[in-house]
Parts: sequence; C-alpha cells; structure tokens
Amino acid sequence: MNSVTIIIFGASGDLTKRKLIPALYRLLKNKKAPFFTIIGVARDATTVENILHSAKEFIADFDEETWHVLHKHMVYYQLDFLNGSGYQDLSTHITNHEKLFNASGNRIVYLATAAHFFCPITQHVAQSNIALRLDDTPYWHRLVYEKPFGHDAQSAQDINKCIAQYFDEDQIYRVDHYLSKELVSNIALVRFTNCVLEPLWNSQYIENVQITLSESVGVAGRGGYYDHYGALADVVQNHMLELVALIAMESPEKLTGEYIRNKRVEVLKHIQVTDALLGQYDGYANEAHVAPNSRTETFAITQLAINNQRWKGVPFYLKTGKMLKKKETVIHIKFKQVDCLLAKECPSDTNYLTFRIFPDASFILTLNIKKPGTSQEVIPVNMEFSHSALYSSATPEAYEVLFIEIMAGSQEVSVRFDEIEYAWRIVDSIKKMNLPVFSYKIASDGPEEVQQFNKKHDLRWRI
Ligand code: BG6
Repeated sequence: MNSVTIIIFGASGDLTKRKLIPALYRLLKNKKAPFFTIIGVARDATTVENILHSAKEFIADFDEETWHVLHKHMVYYQLDFLNGSGYQDLSTHITNHEKLFNASGNRIVYLATAAHFFCPITQHVAQSNIALRLDDTPYWHRLVYEKPFGHDAQSAQDINKCIAQYFDEDQIYRVDHYLSKELVSNIALVRFTNCVLEPLWNSQYIENVQITLSESVGVAGRGGYYDHYGALADVVQNHMLELVALIAMESPEKLTGEYIRNKRVEVLKHIQVTDALLGQYDGYANEAHVAPNSRTETFAITQLAINNQRWKGVPFYLKTGKMLKKKETVIHIKFKQVDCLLAKECPSDTNYLTFRIFPDASFILTLNIKKPGTSQEVIPVNMEFSHSALYSSATPEAYEVLFIEIMAGSQEVSVRFDEIEYAWRIVDSIKKMNLPVFSYKIASDGPEEVQQFNKKHDLRWRI
C-alpha cells in the first residue's frame, strides 16, 4: 500500500497523547501499517517534542529507535482553526513535507477536536485543497471525525449537512473506537456463528441485559470538554448504545459493514428510555475548567426498552460513571430462572453470558453444577474463554485497528449518520426528563439513590 500523510487537528489535545500517538507508535514498531508521516495541527504554541513527550507515559513497550523514527516523521503546525487564511500556508507546508518524504499524496485528515470545529475545519480543508473529493484526485483523501459527533441530534444534523457539502460519504469516517475493540467486534460473530446461542437470544430466555462502563479516573484534565457534554454524551450516546445495538440486532445477511449497520440502526430506532438516574462525584465542580455550580452528570444509569418482538419486556440497563470503585467494561446477559427440579438446594442464580471488554478480553458462560462431593449444593461455575490469555501479544489496541482500517479504506469502522442521529435522540430524550443529579463519593458504586432504583426495578447488578 502507498504511503500516507496523517494530518491531526487537535494534536496538542488529550486524545492525541493518550491514544493516537501511542497507536501510531505501535503500528510503526510492529510494522503493521504502510509508511506514514504525521502533521500535527493545533492552536497552541507547542512543538513536536512537547507532544511526543506528553504521549510517552501512555506507551508500554517503549523503544528509543521507534521513537526516533516517529519523531523524524512528525512536524507541528500552529493554526487557529477558525482562521481560513492560515490553511493555505498549512497546505503548502503539507505538500513540502510530502515532497521531503517522497510521499504518495494519500491523506488522512483526523479531526480530534471538539465537534463545533468539525464544520469550519472541513470547509477550510476543502477550500485550501488539503483534502479533495474522490473524483478530483488520483490519491485518496479521507476525513475522520471523532465522537461525540455534535452535542445533540440537531447539532449532529447541522455538522453532517455541512461536511456533506464538501466530501463524499465514502471518504467520511465518523469513528467510535469501541467498534474496533477486539471483543466488541467479536460480539456479533460469536452470537451468529454459534447455534447454541442464537435460539436463546430473545425475551423467552433472557431476563435482562446489563452493560457497565465504569471508570476509576475523573475528568483527567478534560474538565472544559467534559462539563459541556457529561456522561450521557461522552459515552452513552456512542460507545454504550453501539454495544446495545450489537447485542440486540437481528441477524444480518452477512457479517460485514453495511449489513451490520442496517441492523444496528433498526435497534436504535426502536429504543425507548423507560427510566434513568444521574449522579455527579464529590469534588467534580472543583475540577479545572468545570463551572463551580455545574449540574453535569458524571454518572448515569438508564433503563431502556427495545420495542420489537424479540425484546418485548426485556430491560437493557446501562451504567457508567467516572471516579467509581474500578475501571471495567462488561456486558452481562442474564438468562431467566429455570424451574427448580431439586428437592433441596436450588440454583441461587441464573445463567449469565458475559462479554468482558476490560480489564481482560474474555467471554464467560456461567452455568450451575452440583458441588463436588456428597452435598446437593448447587454452585455456579464459569466456562471462560480468555482472549487476552490466548492471544495477548497479537491483539492490537482499538486505535491501531482504526488506523489500519482507515488506511485500507474499510468503512466498517465508520458509524453511519443515521445511527448517530438515533442515538442522539435517545440521549436527548433523557436530557428532556430534567432529572436531579445526585452526588456520590469517590471510589464508590455511585449515588446511594441507586439502591432505590434497583429496588424499583427488582434489579441486581452482576458484579
Ligand atoms: C472516551 C471518553 O470516548 O472513552 C472518555 O471520551 C472515556 O471519557 C473513554 O474515558 C473510555 O474508553 P476506554 O477505551 O478506556 O474504555
């Protein structure tokens, strides 16, 4: 494959240091991508050295040689994103950089910025020929938009309309790194290629679905961004609803891009929020760049109904929060209780199928067995497939997969606009409920009011 120039808008930001640079570093180190160079663009007066230095702590397998090459391949350009005249100069800068490396002209323009910059940056990038429509260039130019895409359904529509004026859908990538996680991309495959699972995948056998994305860190220096969005827009609208869609979708004709997206969107279209609870961790309002009287939620539980035949009466519970006891991303499918056929000890719990996305990547099927020995006690045992244990070194990080797929022109990693729009409608409907925001202690399980919520819904979270 020909070489690629990666132009990152938001190069001095949090995402670049935590995820993008470490992913590019690993691709370079493991020789998994075609030759690439990087042009970092941001508003700050910073340098390549500073950007790389701040990314260093997020790289586990550091080696000097790769670092040196990465450094040599990267330049930085300071730009006010809203000032159109600066883009001409940036364009010349990019062309010169490409000549230096004898690069092919293929470009990825990565917008790792707040969503309100998406439209102006796209417009200026198009007008200064930094990226061209497919028909206007022998090379490929692809534009990548980070989540959250907008801040509600209306703003997402406005952004989409704006970028569609300048670029073709085939070159637009609205990304959600959760879709590139190894275990997440396995969900549909496991479900549809194992006939022991699919017949049970409905309201006759499933009692509820619980999805938890909990984090032990706070806003980690991103107070300015987070305070405008909150947990619902930050992770529920995208990562968590995509997980719901993958779990709940009908069988696609094929397990590939457009077929899966069609099925995912059908789920999102039929979701209704039936209850929710919001929280904010103690001390959040003292975080840098957070409004002192902020009511932004850092914790959210939602109960969703999917209005179709398959999921009639099966609640989907989503729980997320910052500054909780532990970092964990997990999906539990709770099966229904069976009739007890035993004279004495009955199973104390039902079967579960668990997709553990973090900390380890694994599937676990929890079954009941008789405790070995003479007692009739029934105990749950786990049948576990640990992806991390079997393939740890071969499993790329989500952002590595994302870059590889974008370079290969695979739109599978892009979220279609209708999915984004329906997901925003769900989140907008929660915002319209005007719910109270309960406080909670750092390193806890969330607000105490969660107990009442659980009681109300006869819900026991799987731990
Ligand atoms: C990001 C959110 O999209 O996802 C962050 O903006 C969150 O607030 C992160 O911490 C969680 O991703 P992961 O891959 O660490 O589970």
